[in-house]
Amino acid sequence: YRIAVFASGQGSNFQNLLDASRSGELDAEIVLLVCDKPQAFVVERARQAGVECYLFDPKSYVRREDYEADIAAELEKRGIDLVVLAGYMRLLTSVLVEPYAGRMINIHPSLLPAFPGKDAIGQAWEYGVKVTGVTVHLVDGGMDTGAVIAQAAVEIAPNDSLESLETKIHAAEQRLYPQVVSWFAKNRVRVEGRKVTILSE
Ligand code: GRF
Repeated sequence: YRIAVFASGQGSNFQNLLDASRSGELDAEIVLLVCDKPQAFVVERARQAGVECYLFDPKSYVRREDYEADIAAELEKRGIDLVVLAGYMRLLTSVLVEPYAGRMINIHPSLLPAFPGKDAIGQAWEYGVKVTGVTVHLVDGGMDTGAVIAQAAVEIAPNDSLESLETKIHAAEQRLYPQVVSWFAKNRVRVEGRKVTILSE
């Protein structure tokens, strides 16, 4: 089962999935990192681990559709089964969304539909909610709007700070994302519109 990860930043989720794959906990191989930021730390992680990188500069293209067509060709060439977004900071067009419908997922650090978009942890903190969490969802053309696959709740305790909340959220991401990816690798995910069901093993 062949995975491409798209990322733009730190890459802690990329690293976590890679570790799960290499330890055998996740029965899938990360064959490609797609990144729009050559300076991002995730690129360094991929190089260290010997994972192939496809780097592109969005500014050197006129339209989003044009660089996505190039990405689509790279995915096609490598027979990618699942696209995993992990801190990829760009919206996608139908050029990528359509061919990978039902096989492209994202992780977002809130309980969607609360707090979509940037800085979801800060948004939840400012709002003062008592429970937040993480969501893994299918990707459509919108901002964090695709069908929900799985969620995990994180409580905000009276003694939490924004920093301690971030730590808890990232820990929840690291538990949830490999699990969801393994459901896909085992062909256990069924999608009917917005209704996503996980088949039992
Ligand atoms: C994560 O919090 C993820 O939920 C969000 O972007 C962040 C990426 O972090 N979509 P990292 O690059 O995996 O460290």
